[in-house]
Amino acid sequence: MNLKFDLDNHTIETLHLQPNEEIWYCVPRDLSREDQFLTNAYVVVTNRRLCLLSDGVVSESYMLSVCKKLDCETMINSAVLRLYFKDGSIRFFARCTMKHIVRFSYVARGATMLMQGRFYRVESMEYEATCPKCGAILQNIRTCPNCGGRGSSLKKAVVLCKPFAPQFLVLSLFTLLSSALALAGPKIRQVFIDTSLADKSGTLNDVARFILLMLAIAVGNIVLNTVRNIFSTYLGARMAKDLRSKMFQKVQKLALARIEDMKPGQLMNRITNDTTDIRRFMENTFASTLSTIVTMAGALIYMMVIDWKLTLLSLVFVPFMFMISYFLRGTFSQKFRREREKRDSLNSRLQDVISGISVVKSFGKEDYEVEGFRKLNRELTDVLIQNYAFFYSLFPAMNFILNLGTYLITYAMGVSVLRGAMTVGVLMQMVAYAGNLYGPLETLTRLPRELSSLFNNVERIYDVLEEEEGSFQSEETVDIDLQGDIEFDNVCFGYKSYEPVLNDINLHIRPGEMIGLVGASGTGKSTMINLIMHLYQVDSGVLKIDGADINQIRQADLRKRMGVVLQETFLFNGSILDNIRFSRPEASLEEVIHAAKMANAHDFIIRTPDGYNTNVGERGYNLSGGERQRIAIARAVLIRPKLLILDEATSNLDTESEYLIQNALERLEKQCTTIAIAHRLSTLKNADRLVVIDNHHIIEEGSHEELLKKKGVYYGLVTAQLEMAKVG
Ligand SMILES: Nc1ncnc2c1ncn2[C@@H]1O[C@H](COP(=O)(O)OP(=O)(O)O)[C@@H](O)[C@H]1O
Ligand SMILES: [Mg+2]
Repeated sequence: MNLKFDLDNHTIETLHLQPNEEIWYCVPRDLSREDQFLTNAYVVVTNRRLCLLSDGVVSESYMLSVCKKLDCETMINSAVLRLYFKDGSIRFFARCTMKHIVRFSYVARGATMLMQGRFYRVESMEYEATCPKCGAILQNIRTCPNCGGRGSSLKKAVVLCKPFAPQFLVLSLFTLLSSALALAGPKIRQVFIDTSLADKSGTLNDVARFILLMLAIAVGNIVLNTVRNIFSTYLGARMAKDLRSKMFQKVQKLALARIEDMKPGQLMNRITNDTTDIRRFMENTFASTLSTIVTMAGALIYMMVIDWKLTLLSLVFVPFMFMISYFLRGTFSQKFRREREKRDSLNSRLQDVISGISVVKSFGKEDYEVEGFRKLNRELTDVLIQNYAFFYSLFPAMNFILNLGTYLITYAMGVSVLRGAMTVGVLMQMVAYAGNLYGPLETLTRLPRELSSLFNNVERIYDVLEEEEGSFQSEETVDIDLQGDIEFDNVCFGYKSYEPVLNDINLHIRPGEMIGLVGASGTGKSTMINLIMHLYQVDSGVLKIDGADINQIRQADLRKRMGVVLQETFLFNGSILDNIRFSRPEASLEEVIHAAKMANAHDFIIRTPDGYNTNVGERGYNLSGGERQRIAIARAVLIRPKLLILDEATSNLDTESEYLIQNALERLEKQCTTIAIAHRLSTLKNADRLVVIDNHHIIEEGSHEELLKKKGVYYGLVTAQLEMAKVG
């Protein structure tokens, strides 16, 4: 998302930038304090000042050094930036409509950081919601298919087709051959009519030969077309398959933050529907269109050679068709976009509701959802009916106009034949070619529509393929053999960069230490762990593992010896053995059994019907929560972890499972660095150090006893839990 709009030179001059002053953020403000819509008005933040621009004039300007913070408050349909000064006064600074709210939030955060002397540039990974050029709603795609230009979409389509160049060549050869055959027919007929029939000089043999030739051509055509169609269907299927695999691979590599931004339904749509549409295009449209174009070109050339004046005469109505197409091109793409948008919203809604069906049911919202779905469904159907009614009334009319040319030249040629200036054979030949020229034009008038929707498919697919990958790894990498030394050095992080979750975190965890992370829920404990797993990138500061910046460590090196047990364990539908081996597929059966024993899981596993080969069922639902957790621990043990991460690993369990698991974990904790988050603080008692997080910061640090003595936040949490236990 653009946070630095370009200003014209004149406007930049009026800002009177100092020598080392630079514009950091510049975003439009489109509402005045008096509720009027503004154009050409901006909020500008430099590394020294905060200014308001209106029509190229600086209307307000404050030095950052006198400001304390800028915050963005969302109102109904608008947002307001409020400026807090160091002297305690507050100024109602700027407003914007919904269109720029997200931008305002980013700038508020960026400006506030500057005011605090932190020169960190806030960036937004989010896509623009509307096309900055044409205002079209961009459904989570980067380039607007209208404004990016057909050229760029075409280029992308060519890039996607490139790996299949040889197949395309073969396909073109087939097409050329079948077109040549199609054009040979009328020529042979002309010769036959003019030499054998016109003066009745031909023999029965000539007639038989003619019929055989025509039969041969017909059979040849059928064979060629069949082969061509099979081949293009095959090619389409191959392309779709390749694209699907590529996209799937890409999704595996994408940053978690990006996947969370795209709705899962949308992503699924792109991988399945968009690739299927490409296959359909190859199957139904590509080969036949190519062949139509080649045949048309051939027919046109042939006609020109026979009589260029008549040919030109037959073309007089063509410009009309181009004019109509030209004037309607906006309508075409708009119609497709609307169809696509409606289909997308329907699909995302479906996805949302189905994946959250338990919530829908538990709140009794079924009727509400049905109504919502019905509305979207109706909208899609309306759009479909409108669109197709439009297309199907337009095309026959266009076709008729074009065919007027054929009638015109048939009249002219009829006259010539009567005058003896043209033979009957040539007349028939010209009429046949004119048929080749105009007959398939209907197919061609459909082409813009097909291309429009193809280019939309291509944009969506490209968008996924071009997405920046999740590896935040820098070019230089260092080799580490994970020891479990972790250092947060002034780390700041927020899932949205304008909304901090962790601020100025400083923490050094030494190899072998056991750390308990403590804090109310939503304070950012899991977030710290997400950063250590490198699922997200720190916004500022450095996170070091074994002394090296985490960005320089290869993901594989990091994960190889990192064991993770979370509150909810995800098991794949498969055997217990496969699920434990998931962390290290090459592990031997002995190793798996050893790991299961360490995890106190072996006993229950051998009691299941098929032992290690027992199927865990969809998401592991054939097993109890405690059993699933012990499988997760076995998974972690199997990699002989140097760093063990436990995020509420025992929170949802009954006392017996918790005892078994706690016991297994204690065995494991002795061997490696452990970072544990637990809801029940008693489970963290034997941690070497407890780290208490509150309000985005680390506020207390020390052993259980030390923190109890301090009577601070931790003391409060512990006594609260004791009270609860008494009541329970
Ligand atoms: N994937 C995410 N995207 C956006 N916000 C998130 C995400 N995960 C957590 N948050 C937010 O970050 C904050 C800290 O969450 P978390 O680290 O999970 O807290 P906890 O201390 O309970 O583990 C919460 O306000 C939560 O809403
Ligand atoms: Mg959590």
